[in-house]
Amino acid sequence: MDLYEYQARDLFESYGVPVLPGIIADTPEDARAAAEKLGGVVVVKAQVKVGGRGKAGGVKVAQNPDEAYSAAQDILGLDIKGHTVQRVMVAAGARIAQEFYFSVLLDRANRSYLSLTSFEGGMEIEQLAVERPEALARIEINPNRGIDSAKAHEIAIAAQFPAELVEKVASVIAQLYEVYTGEDATLVEVNPLVLTEEGHIVALDGKVSLDENAAFRHPSHETLEDKGASDPLEARAKELDLNYVKLDGEVGIIGNGAGLVMSTLDVVAYAGEQHGGVKPANFLDIGGGASAKVMTDGLDVILSDPQVKSVFVNVFGGITACDAVANGIVQALTVLGSSATKPLVVRLDGNKVEEGRAILAAANHPLITLATSMDDGADKAAALASR
Ligand SMILES: Nc1ncnc2c1ncn2[C@@H]1O[C@H](COP(=O)(O)OP(=O)(O)OP(=O)(O)O)[C@@H](O)[C@H]1O
Ligand SMILES: [Mg+2]
Repeated sequence: MDLYEYQARDLFESYGVPVLPGIIADTPEDARAAAEKLGGVVVVKAQVKVGGRGKAGGVKVAQNPDEAYSAAQDILGLDIKGHTVQRVMVAAGARIAQEFYFSVLLDRANRSYLSLTSFEGGMEIEQLAVERPEALARIEINPNRGIDSAKAHEIAIAAQFPAELVEKVASVIAQLYEVYTGEDATLVEVNPLVLTEEGHIVALDGKVSLDENAAFRHPSHETLEDKGASDPLEARAKELDLNYVKLDGEVGIIGNGAGLVMSTLDVVAYAGEQHGGVKPANFLDIGGGASAKVMTDGLDVILSDPQVKSVFVNVFGGITACDAVANGIVQALTVLGSSATKPLVVRLDGNKVEEGRAILAAANHPLITLATSMDDGADKAAALASR
């Protein structure tokens, strides 16, 4: 889960990382009030989870509250790379002497952590990495040792900070690492980290990604979740504990196990080519040991997607027995009643397949079509979706 800049700012502050005061605002009026409260020069900043806000006109300096009002007016509603700005942060203005870069992230390939640091800020880091790789210190962090004071000094020196700044920068780097491990983050990035005219090191812009696998250790992270921004069906599926991903096509897909679901996506996309370019509408994995309840919940989510024209249920019975799946489908259709209007193609195989097929045959539901194989099912579902 990625955080907004203002959430990263708050998190940094709680770990003692030097940041400037910032107040969020959802309207120009609120931005004006925030600027009044902060006093002096402020910077009005778009809060979107995408980089390059400055270049897109999403970061504006305001000399006074009235300017903050009009800056917020310009920025709110702005589209930045497909993200609509719904909120700004009004931040106290810094008098910047110099801009630097620091990040620490999970390095999956090397099963380690990696810190990237540069004394040269102001340029986009991707560009710096390509054009002046020597200006970017890449230091591997042993996850068991982390960034203690000695390591933080090593990083600052490797990034070519001048001697008089090393101490100050090292202490902020060590604090940022505390945020990284303390919150189970996979990324903590500060761009820019600045030196102010007053001689302080301050984190002016923060990007934090949290590891959702560690959410159970951080009940507080739930409040950081941006429920409105994700797809409403994905949000509902998450509440129901379903592994669901919304895609862009017309055939809803339910399978058990990620491997089977993935290959079902492929087979449906392939079959779809014969039926006017029909594509999978989602990915829904009901997992092993799926109950009738999971089937009902899953079908309910998929059938609520207006893009879905047909559904392909592809289950290979292992731990999940086919009769349970068949009962689940029948129950789901009973519960959904007249709100279920889309055709279902069902392919069952494996554990208790005969029983499962018998249950579906006995139900004789007008929406259900039985398929004899995965290819057959994909073809039938694609054909129904293309009607
Ligand atoms: N509080 C502030 N005071 C003074 N200048 C600021 C402040 N915040 C940002 N700036 C200036 O604006 C520039 C861009 O800000 P920031 O890094 O927050 O946005 P960005 O880099 O464009 O966005 P992103 O990091 O999402 O790509 C900074 O490099 C800095 O020069
Ligand atoms: Mg930035």
